[in-house]
Amino acid sequence: MRRHACGGKMNKFLALSLFAALAACSSAQGESVVDGAENYERYCAGCHNPGPGHGGTMLLAEKGAPVPSLIGRKDLDYDYLHSVVRQGLIEMPPFRPTELSDAEIKQIYDHIVAQKLPPTKAEPAKNKAL
Ligand code: HEC
Repeated sequence: MRRHACGGKMNKFLALSLFAALAACSSAQGESVVDGAENYERYCAGCHNPGPGHGGTMLLAEKGAPVPSLIGRKDLDYDYLHSVVRQGLIEMPPFRPTELSDAEIKQIYDHIVAQKLPPTKAEPAKNKAL
């Protein structure tokens, strides 16, 4: 779905050779399927990114989670995350398989566990507001 890099050039090439342009596009970009990072940004980040203003993060912080964002957690297990995403959890809406496939949830999970919290957010000592 990430076509933007080629979209602009497409008009010029269209009359000449649509197929050649398409081939150039896909080979230049490699496999540009929507990946875990993109889906995380689209479906989860708004509620779960680190910092204030993210509903999920704030609620988990209120409940006393040591790391309230999904990113930076060491205790997240795929089966648990998968079932929360499919069934929802209290305030969190469930995602149907037509919205996110199992494979996409797995990619999101892989993306989350591969990320590190930005250093500034990882220091609870900065919580002066309390
Ligand atoms: C509309 C906001 C919202 C969106 C979008 C959302 N979540 Fe959540 N999520 C929440 C809230 C709020 C909670 C806390 C629920 C509770 O415990 O009451 C939560 C909880 C969770 C938990 C459980 C955390 C724990 O410690 O038990 C996981 C895992 C999770 N979300 C993963 C995801 C993933 C992955 C996505 C994207 C596919 C996502 N969420 C999208 C709001 C959201």
